[in-house]
Amino acid sequence: MNNNINGILNEALNKLQSAQLADIENIKVEYLGKKGKITEILKTLSSLSIEEKKEIGSQVNVAKTQLNEAMEAKKKEITNKLLEEKMKNEKIDISPAFSFNFPKGHYHIISKAIEEMSNIFISLGFNVTSGREIENDWYNFEALNIPKDHPARDTQDTFYLENSENLLRTQTSAAQIHIMEESKPPIKVIVPGRVYRNEATDASHSAIFHQIEGLVVGEDITFAQLKGTLQLFINRLFNQELPIRFRPSHFQFTEPSAEVDMKCVFCGGKGCRVCKGSGWIEVLGCGMVHPNVFRAVKYDPEKYTGYAFGLGVERFAMLKYGIDDMRVLYENDLRVLRQF
Ligand code: DAH
Repeated sequence: MNNNINGILNEALNKLQSAQLADIENIKVEYLGKKGKITEILKTLSSLSIEEKKEIGSQVNVAKTQLNEAMEAKKKEITNKLLEEKMKNEKIDISPAFSFNFPKGHYHIISKAIEEMSNIFISLGFNVTSGREIENDWYNFEALNIPKDHPARDTQDTFYLENSENLLRTQTSAAQIHIMEESKPPIKVIVPGRVYRNEATDASHSAIFHQIEGLVVGEDITFAQLKGTLQLFINRLFNQELPIRFRPSHFQFTEPSAEVDMKCVFCGGKGCRVCKGSGWIEVLGCGMVHPNVFRAVKYDPEKYTGYAFGLGVERFAMLKYGIDDMRVLYENDLRVLRQF
């Protein structure tokens, strides 16, 4: 190849080596453009012989092709490098491509309340079991020291199942009997579950509602332990110290029996609409397991003592979440549910 052409080509290739993307276009103009250094060579050919013209012309073409190819290769090299850099630094979040914008579901208020309350008892060493919703007279009444014809039955309007001995449990207390029949002390258990009563629905009643039953049986179980457990439970559930008080009461399956009031969580005891001015709210029933209940499950009442309690889930949920009408819990209005 003509030295001149060779020299120009090498000069161009040298420049190309250190070129950036924008420089390549300039090099192209400088060497291959209309007035480019290689193009100019062709213009000097007029004085040469045909042979020489052919020879140099083809050399120029070779040089052009070589430079063009070198420029393309350089372009590729630079863009690849840029791309590589970009990939290294760039994080692309592809998760939106795979996610659908469905609103997230969550537990119903009642389930949430049961879970929260159960967790407190679990932290105090209680086991959890669920009992049965279909019971018979023995478990729901008789073994709980509520004989046939006893007026205590009238307070729990019962749904009886047709053509059967069975009924829908009116109280989770029925589970106490199963638990004691099936195991030996020490027992420390709660039973959350649904119960049924043949009642009209209003702001504080429902034919289907939920209770949590508690049962602790052992050789030295005392009323003081019952009191301590319930006080801790209330304080934890409401995240504050809320004194409780025990009022003497009567349940067939406990002796002595008590109803428990807690300081009103809304007014702190000053008296308000919710506590009807008394400063106290009745929240649950409890007592020491009646010897007749132990006899029914063939436990020795001389050897064992125990305490039991039963609380209404809806009542606690309403107090905790500030709901003043029980029906709200069952209507499942999404505008309400979404608030919890
Ligand atoms: N079963 C009772 C009811 O449904 C609540 C209750 C009271 C449960 C005292 C107990 C208890 O375990 O000791 O009204």
